[in-house]
Amino acid sequence: MAFVIGVVGAGVMGADVALQCAAAGHRVVLHDCDEVVLSRFLSDLPRSLRGYRLLGAKLGTGKADELLTRIRTSTDLADLGPVDWIVENVTEDLGVKQRVYSALSGYCRPDTRYGVNTSCIPITRIAALLPHPERVIGMHFMNPVPVKRIVEVVQGFHTDQQTILAARGFLASLGKDAIVVQDSPGFVANRLSHLFMNEAAFLVHDGVAAPAEIDAIFRDGYGHKMGPLETADLIGLDTVLRSLEVLYLHYQDPKFRCCPLLRKMVDAGITGKKSGRGFYEYAEWSGTRASGE
Ligand SMILES: NC(=O)c1ccc[n+]([C@@H]2O[C@H](COP(=O)([O-])OP(=O)(O)OC[C@H]3O[C@@H](n4cnc5c(N)ncnc54)[C@H](O)[C@@H]3O)[C@@H](O)[C@H]2O)c1
Repeated sequence: MAFVIGVVGAGVMGADVALQCAAAGHRVVLHDCDEVVLSRFLSDLPRSLRGYRLLGAKLGTGKADELLTRIRTSTDLADLGPVDWIVENVTEDLGVKQRVYSALSGYCRPDTRYGVNTSCIPITRIAALLPHPERVIGMHFMNPVPVKRIVEVVQGFHTDQQTILAARGFLASLGKDAIVVQDSPGFVANRLSHLFMNEAAFLVHDGVAAPAEIDAIFRDGYGHKMGPLETADLIGLDTVLRSLEVLYLHYQDPKFRCCPLLRKMVDAGITGKKSGRGFYEYAEWSGTRASGE
């Protein structure tokens, strides 16, 4: 069954969610407040589609032109009026998300369901902003979306069983398996991963080892696909920093104290792969792996 999906936020995650939805045959309204981001999405789509297919992503056989006929970009929230699902991917900042949800509820149908793509912010907090909080669910897509099979689905305090079922069905249409967990800041994935990414940044900060050495030990010693610093670069160091701040704020636990080096890099505009430089340097489209190892 084809849906109309409103993808809100067209950055690292929103762009790939939109691509994945269009490849699965859904119609997409891709919204961002920044026109430049939307234009970049449109011009990058053919290259992203080719690149992800080379990495083995299940994106069907449709050509880029065909996918583009199913995607409409917009900076106007009013264009999200007729959508069945919102998948929201704006900046990891509660204030920004609050403003977006407060505005969205004025435009979307009462029966629209909301998938919140957040790294760490509690779903219950966001659902409370909407008139039908039972229709709100966490959809923590993994990066890069087209090559990751699982989605961490988060049941908020109000999320009802119909919404969980609907989310499973929607995600299955994208070829994804849902793993349902309960609401808690950072859920499972990021409560774990941000500890090791932050500690890896501390290792660089303390001069214990260089990024390539740290990642190699983690990857080859423990059998992970990627090291913590190449993962942080892929996510975006600004998003990692904001997520650590959310974890620190909610748990009041010093283990989530952000490494000063990470903060300094973000202050300097070094935000990882999306900026061309993080713990490694990147070519224009370098897939999921760091190029500077
Ligand atoms: N990057 C990852 O690996 C990753 C993985 C899973 C979940 N997430 C979560 O997904 C969300 C998006 O992350 P990202 O990495 O794509 O961030 P990003 O910074 O790459 O993109 C955020 C986008 O939101 C847009 N935006 C900001 N304010 C807006 C507004 N008021 N209205 C419309 N658009 C607005 C920005 O213009 C930008 O294009 C975050 O909550 C993040 O925690 C990120």
